[in-house]
Amino acid sequence: MNFYTLDYKDDNLMLLDQTLLPGETKYLQLTDYVEVIEAIKRLSVRGAPAIGVAAAYASVLAANQAGNRQELLKMLGEIKDARPTAVNLAWAIRQAEALADTNPELSPAELKPKLLELAREIHEDDVRMCARIGQNGAELIKDGMTIMTHCNAGALATAGIGTALAVIYTAHKQGKRIKVYADETRPLLQGARLTAWELAQEGVDVTLNTDSMAAYLMQQGEIDCVITGADRVAKNYDVANKIGTYGLAVSASYHNVPFYVAIPVSTYDSDCPSGKEIEIEMRDSKEITEWGGIRTAPEGVKTYSPAFDVTPHKLVSAIITDQGIIRPNP
Ligand code: MRU
Repeated sequence: MNFYTLDYKDDNLMLLDQTLLPGETKYLQLTDYVEVIEAIKRLSVRGAPAIGVAAAYASVLAANQAGNRQELLKMLGEIKDARPTAVNLAWAIRQAEALADTNPELSPAELKPKLLELAREIHEDDVRMCARIGQNGAELIKDGMTIMTHCNAGALATAGIGTALAVIYTAHKQGKRIKVYADETRPLLQGARLTAWELAQEGVDVTLNTDSMAAYLMQQGEIDCVITGADRVAKNYDVANKIGTYGLAVSASYHNVPFYVAIPVSTYDSDCPSGKEIEIEMRDSKEITEWGGIRTAPEGVKTYSPAFDVTPHKLVSAIITDQGIIRPNP
């Protein structure tokens, strides 16, 4: 990859500002945990694993800023609440909270090196998990396949080479000739702006389609499998992912196209019994009534803007993880 998504150097969290892609490659340099929360909320950093890593580093910044332990715990709570659906965020902060709990005598300044060590571990684990997802998933990809993906589950969504796109990158590196259709992914165009951008840079044959073209492509027999990432996988393997994923899974099932979901273990939430219990983030109505500051819908129109949906496990052919492949419906 000729870019990195995030890094931490000398008490600065560097984040590639994904709201500016593909036009501009600009890094935010953050020293305040509140700035990280804002960056997560406006999707400057996005994708479940990447926000988990960013949150872990935000806890280090919070330790720099907190006057006492009570303040630090409050700050950790604020970071945890930045976005509700991707479990990786809460997963990372729960580990920071556990560290504070097991060291009750330490001040925030004394906890800081331990929090930094934890954040680096979460960061490096994510890089390793992405690589393993790629290796495990590439076994499902045959030479000549055409793969559809939705949203961005690539390097931009993780600290490594991605989840769904890790499978694609690994198969591509293995010399398999593959073709990718990237769903545009309304309303924020992660597919068009981010997935098409990173796949093209890596020399993968990528074609952009709008979300509404996906079912037609399947009907024409153009798609051999679908691979997406996930923001949370419940205990029963129901999958929360970017809005539109459920519709894609329904279409894939109707057309007998395998539907794969690629995740690191940090995205599996064994405390969440099923998709019904997953909180779905609702986004600002402006994200569907405007584009680039220009109104695309009449003033005063009522809106409905969930950021994610839940795909029942019955529609999932396999979950590709860093630890192997799970078949939810054996
Ligand atoms: O709103 P976003 O851009 O954070 O949504 C991201 C997704 O839905 C991804 O598919 C998911 O986080 C998996 S990323 C490896």
